[in-house]
Amino acid sequence: MTRRAVVKGVGHYLPARIVRNAEFEATLDTSDEWIKARSGIERRHFAAEGETTSDLATHAAKAALDHAGLAGSDIDAIILATSTADNTFPSAATMVQANIGNEHGYAFDVQAVCAGFVYALANANALIVSGQANRVLVIGAETFSRIMDWTDRSTCVLFGDGAGAVVLEGADGTGDAGDRGILATDLNSDGRFRDLLYVDGGVATQNTGVLRMQGKEVFRHAVEKLAQTAHTALDKVGLGADDVDWVVPHQANIRIIQSTAKKLGVDMDRVVVTVQDHGNTSAASIPLALSVGVANGQIKRGDLIVTEAIGGGLAWGAVVLRW
Ligand code: UT7
Repeated sequence: MTRRAVVKGVGHYLPARIVRNAEFEATLDTSDEWIKARSGIERRHFAAEGETTSDLATHAAKAALDHAGLAGSDIDAIILATSTADNTFPSAATMVQANIGNEHGYAFDVQAVCAGFVYALANANALIVSGQANRVLVIGAETFSRIMDWTDRSTCVLFGDGAGAVVLEGADGTGDAGDRGILATDLNSDGRFRDLLYVDGGVATQNTGVLRMQGKEVFRHAVEKLAQTAHTALDKVGLGADDVDWVVPHQANIRIIQSTAKKLGVDMDRVVVTVQDHGNTSAASIPLALSVGVANGQIKRGDLIVTEAIGGGLAWGAVVLRW
């Protein structure tokens, strides 16, 4: 018997305010056509004034718990992937813990920028298979609208706010690739590339700072590294592209998603795409896409899913799971 971390529920939350590309035309030398053609993004959601990452995360967490038929008090551990926690400390995860009425478990944030949810899933899996927790709430939540330079057209049109969550629960499997749950993970980072995508503030500067990105360079790394990590994760369980029902990629740019799918050998009709509606929501993008994919009937029980993501660090990785 092999211990597996199986998805019991999924949910998401998007702030009410929708910002369409055309809104940027009033203040920036940009256009709906450019943004759509170069990134695939048509609209994104922005949090309301005073609405924080832990607020978004709490809504998504409650939706995932409802979907799983569980209460906050049923959870052993909460892992929140975010680069935009409300405060430097305590973790946004502890805020969610209080908001969902969990008093006996433990909660912490994971910071791997856009790869954060993949990192959080891998860590939740490790907690479950090692017996340190049985039910783990894994959340990705971001308010990137708070770290934008609104004069930089090459970045501020790309990002959005949102949150998604899954509830994982331990179950006994047979140990083969037919099991439900997380089957393989692959995590990587390379700090030599830290200057390609970063926020120019923080504790060191005593201000929050804004996002800086060398888009073309990040694009180049993304196309190369995402297909590689997905292949590595699939190889670990002896599976190939033909076995994949759905690729659920980080939603940064439709051109990256298409190039990676092509390199992987998976047709676009087996890729969940939400970038047009959400923009790049960093660590929230994969759980948002999973939740949307389930809600619209694409992802079904038993489907083999590959998630892959890359972001600041650079940090990247993939998770193979059977839904
Ligand atoms: O989630 C973390 C990972 N992040 C990513 O994966 C993002 C990766 N990078 C990208 O998605 C793309 O590189 C971008 C969407 C950021 C940019 O697309 P690109 O095709 O690489 O464009 P570019 O940076 O080469 O810029 C082409 C031109 C430039 O003008 P010149 O130098 O050719 O005159 C830019 O100044 O487009 C210009 N440009 C814009 N024009 C209109 C840049 N931003 C804009 C804009 N509107 N918003």
